[in-house]
Order: sequence, then structure tokens, then C-alpha cells
Amino acid sequence: MIEIENVTKIFRTKAGTVEALKDVSLKIEKGETYGVIGYSGAGKSTLVRCINFLETPDIGAVTIDGTRIEIDNEKLFLVKDGEKTRLSEKSLNKLRSSIGMIFQHFNLLDRSNVFDNIAYPLKYTGKSKKEIHDRVFELLELVGLESKVNAYPCELSGGQKQRVAIARALANNPKILLSDEATSALDPDATESILNLLKDLNKKLGVTIVVITHEMGVIKSICDRVAVMEKGKVVEEGRVYDIFSNPKQPITRKFVNSTSSLSKVDELVKKDSPLVKSQAGESRLYRLVFDKSVNNPVISEVSRKFNVDFNIILANVEAIGDQTIGAMIVKLSGEDKAIDAALTYLSATKVRVEAV
Ligand SMILES: Nc1ncnc2c1ncn2[C@@H]1O[C@H](COP(=O)(O)OP(=O)(O)OP(=O)(O)O)[C@@H](O)[C@H]1O
Ligand SMILES: [Mg+2]
Repeated sequence: MIEIENVTKIFRTKAGTVEALKDVSLKIEKGETYGVIGYSGAGKSTLVRCINFLETPDIGAVTIDGTRIEIDNEKLFLVKDGEKTRLSEKSLNKLRSSIGMIFQHFNLLDRSNVFDNIAYPLKYTGKSKKEIHDRVFELLELVGLESKVNAYPCELSGGQKQRVAIARALANNPKILLSDEATSALDPDATESILNLLKDLNKKLGVTIVVITHEMGVIKSICDRVAVMEKGKVVEEGRVYDIFSNPKQPITRKFVNSTSSLSKVDELVKKDSPLVKSQAGESRLYRLVFDKSVNNPVISEVSRKFNVDFNIILANVEAIGDQTIGAMIVKLSGEDKAIDAALTYLSATKVRVEAV
């Protein structure tokens, strides 16, 4: 659906040049909800803005639903049947209209009511007044905001504003919806309801969604796959479950830990908290990681079998899609030999065991 190949984008300012994207390649399938996560300045917004050409890459290729655009020196070329021609303004606009976008600060027209905000992109499409009216009400129903049709943006909550923005972005039936930090300005309840709405729209309309965020919670709740960006590069990419259960890059680990209470253990160890303090020979501290292959009650089983006690200090079980992944920090007490045997047994049952 979306293919980005070897895209580089350099911003040249008086203060110097910034290489915002360095040879980035990725592929997003039709109907997928794809996440892009990274810290501020990583290049996330630049990357999605290259998908709808709000930003022109310096070099690379971007293919949208079969239409391949090659970029050479910031000039856009359409590649069709092996032939390369300059992309016309008309074709560029057509391509852009097949992509909707929503933003952190909603970008609504403050002086227009909800109806006019949503109707805005329909204005120049040659539709009749009646067609526009019907389409706006269809969109209002889709985002659950019929009762606010005459309200002005200043009369709406953040979540409601974002619903208007989503309706507006979907007005012309785009195949792709780009979301740049759409929930970053919202409270947790509104965030959840907007994420649920996006998930719903993805299912109902089959629209491919690209979600940019700096919060792993957003990725976890709606994305199928995720790319992790750092300093203009995609450093890790994969299915959300795999990234959560086995993050490889240090930055990915940091993001994964940010949504889990388990990361607190490192703090506790550093502070030498009594919670995690082990008295020599008496108890030992371990991190146990459970994934989809573990679904039997291993802790009680191992406790009985080897006569060791598990004191659970921290535990966290995540639901990702319809799979769960969990980890806990445990203090094991018992005879040294028994503990070693218990750990060996746990490892054999696919529980990942790490000494803390
Ligand atoms: N129009 C511009 N002119 C000059 N530099 C820019 C421009 N837009 C972005 N940059 C620079 O490019 C880099 C990537 O910016 P980008 O906005 O893509 O990051 P981001 O990952 O979206 O960050 P944030 O999470 O803060 O939104 C940054 O160093 C930024 O300062
Ligand atoms: Mg950004």
C-alpha cells in the first residue's frame, strides 16, 4: 500500500543542515495499522509528511497504492511502465486527496462550525449541496458527533475536536489516514476513545492507518506493526508483539519498559531498596518473562515440585492484540540447589529467566 525506498530528507537552514531522514525504507501493507515511534526530533513527522508530499524528499522513491513516484533532487517523477515523467500538479493533488491526515492540535477552522469544518474538503469536488449535506451527516455518524453539528470548535472538548478532524480527514474516502500525535494533547479517557475510534474505522472502512507517536501505549493498543526511529533512521521494525516480547535495540527496550511497571525494578536495585535486597544465601532476585508459549500455571507447579518459595515483587501482564505477554520480578528462597533446579525447569518450560 505504501512503500518508502531509500528516502533521504535534508533541511537546509541558515543555522546549518539537518539530515532529518537518512536512507529510510519501509513497507506498509493495505489495511494495516502501522506505528512509527521515536523521541522528539527523530524524524517521524518528516517521514509521514513525505508520504503525502507535504514535504518533498531529496532523493528516494515513494509508492502509494501502486503509483510510484521517484524523487531526484526534490523533483517528483511518475514512473509508469518503466517510463519516467515529471509528476503534474494535478496528479500530485489527486494523490494527496487519497490520503487524509490528523494532527496533535486538530487544525480546525475556529470560525466555522462542525458542519462547515467537515464540509470544507468536499467544497471543490463538484458535489451538490444535498450530496455534501448527506456526506457530512454520514461522517458525523461515523465519528459519533451528530449532536454537535452546529457547535464551534471552542465549544468542543479535545476528544470531540479530534473527532471532527477525523471526519474531515475521511471526507473524500481516503485509502490512507496519517495520524501525527493525534492523541498527544488529550487526557487518558479521550485518548482511549480516539484510539478505539481509529481501530474501528480501520476495521469498518479498511483504511490503512499510519500512527506517529512517542508513546508505546498507543502502539500497543492499536498497531499491527511498528517502526522505531532514532536520529533519522528506522533502527528496528516488526510485529508489535515481537517487538514487545523481544526488543533488540536499546532505544526499543526503553520504549517497551516505559509502559511496564517492571522497569521500576532497576530503580529499586539502584537504590538498594529493602524490597529487592537479597540476604546472601537466603533469597535471589530474578526477572521471569512469559510469552504466548507459556500458558500453564508454572509458578505454583515449580514451587511445589522443588520446594522453593516465590515472593512476587513486581508483575505486569500486557494484552497485545489477542495475545498476552507478562513478566515478573521474583525473590526466590529455598536451598541453593533447589533454586538452581527450579530455574533450569522454568527455562525448559520456555519462561525466560534473567538474574537481576
Ligand atoms: N521545516 C524544517 N526546517 C528545518 N528543520 C526541520 C524542519 N522540520 C523538521 N526539521 C528538523 O528535522 C528533524 C526531524 O524533525 P521531525 O519534526 O520529523 O521530528 P519528530 O520525530 O516528528 O519530532 P517530534 O516528536 O518533536 O514531533 C529535527 O531535527 C527538526 O529540527
Ligand atoms: Mg513530529
